[in-house]
Formats: sequence, structure tokens, C-alpha cells
Amino acid sequence: QSMLILVGLLSYLLGSVPFGLVVTRMMNLGNLRDIGSGNIGTTNVLRTGSKKAAALTLLLDAGKGAVAVLIARAVFGEDAAQLAGLCAFLGHLFPIWLKFKGGKGVATFLGLMLALNFWVGLLCCATWLIIAGGLRISSMAALISVASAPLWMFMRLEGQMLMLGLILTILVYIKHAPNIRRLKNGTEPKIGEK
Ligand code: G3P
Repeated sequence: QSMLILVGLLSYLLGSVPFGLVVTRMMNLGNLRDIGSGNIGTTNVLRTGSKKAAALTLLLDAGKGAVAVLIARAVFGEDAAQLAGLCAFLGHLFPIWLKFKGGKGVATFLGLMLALNFWVGLLCCATWLIIAGGLRISSMAALISVASAPLWMFMRLEGQMLMLGLILTILVYIKHAPNIRRLKNGTEPKIGEK
């Protein structure tokens, strides 16, 4: 029991490292909060004009979700892996260091999903890529990709992951409320636009 609390806490702390802010600060790309949507994720880092910074942010934000899951699974097994994924994700969305005002969770979602169930993760990534490639709107790709996760889980008979998938998807939608408003108004920028 106390081990699970420790897994959750450590995963939350790992997830709460805002790599977008760290990377843009280290590369002197200005204050991310004053750029574009003000979000700390890959899409907004790309608005600084640095593809390298965006790629690094994507890798690190996805990586922290994956690492939390893989370590928890190796040490404590499958239930702990799911808990670690959830807590790392919550860390990214509500980081203690940023007064709980964190990111929207898409990269971390994809990373932890790849580690939890490679095929479900891969199908979510493929969905993101196809929608983003077609529409060039990151938030739309994210919303469709995360909503597809419970569907892939259901189709691949991953019933024990379904609850986690639904919780993560709902949280991503809540965090994308401003994007959903802009999508409705037709004012959501395309990838790379400010
Ligand atoms: O992954 C975040 C993306 O879906 C939206 O980012 O900066 O356009 O709000 P942003």
C-alpha cells in the first residue's frame, strides 16, 4: 500500500517537470507563457520558431510518461504501471511548481500509452499524425486521437485499461476547453501559426 503511494508520488513529480518551459528557457527562446496559447506543450513551443525545441519537448514530455510506466511495471507490476501513468499525467496537467497550471497532456498521454500498451499507443499516434497531416490543426488531432484510445482498447479487448483511458481522455478534453471554443469559432491556428 505505502509502496503504491510512493509510486504515485514519484510519478506525479516526474510528470510535473514542465519540459517545454525548461527547454525554451535553456535555448533562450523567450517566455513561453507570452507566446501563442501560452501553453507549455510541444505545439506552443513550435510557435517560438524552433523545431528543435519542439521536438525535444515532445520527446521529453512523452518520455516522462513512458518512463514512469516502465519503471513502475518493472518494480511493482501492471497495476502500479497504470497508477504511475495516471499520476505522471496528472503531474503534467497540474504541476505543483506552476501553481497547478500545467499543460494539456497530449504528448504525455501518447508516451504513457505507448508504454502501457504499445499497440493502443501506436494507433493513437497514427490517428494524431493522420488528422494533423490532413487538417494541420494540432488540437483537433489531439482531441480525435485521445478519444480514439478507449475505442482501440475496446477493440483490442484491453478492458482493464478502459477506465484509465476514459479518465485521461476526459481530462484532455477539459484542458482543451479554449481550443474547442476556437475550433467552433473557426479561429484555431494551424500548426506553426501563432
Ligand atoms: O497538444 C496541445 C495542443 O493540442 C494544443 O496546443 O498550444 O494550440 O493550445 P495549443
